[in-house]
Amino acid sequence: MSSVKNQRATEAPPVVPLSSALGADIVGLDLSQHLGDAALQLIRDAWARHLVLRFRGQKLTDLQLERFSARLGPLDRVPPYSPGVKSHVQSDYVTVISNVMENGSPIGDLGDGEALWHTDMSYVEVPPAGSALYALEVPASGGNTGFDNMYLAYETLPADVRHSILALQCKHDITRNSGGGKRSGYEGEYSARGAPGALHPLVRTHPVTGRNALFLGRRRNADIPSLPEKESEELLDQLWAHATSPQFTWHQQWKVGDLVLWDNRCVMHRRDAFDGKERRIMHRTQIGGERPIPAQPAGESTTH
Ligand code: OGA
Ligand code: MN
Repeated sequence: MSSVKNQRATEAPPVVPLSSALGADIVGLDLSQHLGDAALQLIRDAWARHLVLRFRGQKLTDLQLERFSARLGPLDRVPPYSPGVKSHVQSDYVTVISNVMENGSPIGDLGDGEALWHTDMSYVEVPPAGSALYALEVPASGGNTGFDNMYLAYETLPADVRHSILALQCKHDITRNSGGGKRSGYEGEYSARGAPGALHPLVRTHPVTGRNALFLGRRRNADIPSLPEKESEELLDQLWAHATSPQFTWHQQWKVGDLVLWDNRCVMHRRDAFDGKERRIMHRTQIGGERPIPAQPAGESTTH
């Protein structure tokens, strides 16, 4: 049953842009309720246009978080946690991101440190299309999450660089998470050329918008295997320095009840550290994606 609030909102919930780079607030939707087709279409359209959507003031159970996310695509299961994490969440689809310890074990991943720029699960062959992160407890300050528009990062590269990277693939390291922690099963030491992980096109075409985006995934142990190692490192450093320029980014300051939905196909994200004495608990779903589509040189010339 739709609430009265959502019935009114399906007529025209406001979409309020959050920055010139990306992000918009969707105001007036209660995501605990079933969304009508019009509200869902509005979300899809706004998501394609703004890349990151924020819904404030939500109150969601895990099942409601799952149900809302699943309207946008079949969900991916929780990826393996770092060694020692003991999540109490029953759902196979809700990942806990938290620094809180219970009985000597963290209840979620990523701790209280900085998480470096990354795309979720880009180290698998078919990474998620998007993620929805819902704030249950947040620290008084710190722990902000930055988002980075990878369409803009690609479009603003010098033309010769844009063309020279079109045919290249990059390896996305599976061995460490974005906080630097070792993933279960990858306790050894790895170098960029030797580390395992999925190979993806450096430039991917978004299946919904048709736009091309830089697909960097994560810097640690990244590798472009078709180039000599030194050239791979230099090119990646150049691309990363450009892609993470502040003008392509927007930073979310969390309030309890915020749900932020981002598109992993054209957005990277990062997180600031926060005071480890404070509690932060976030629940995340992963919306299933498709194998990244390599950008075609022909398509590239028609978009500019
Ligand atoms: C994530 C993530 C950042 C944060 O959930 O994928 O990177 O702000 N989280 O907790
Ligand atoms: Mn992440």
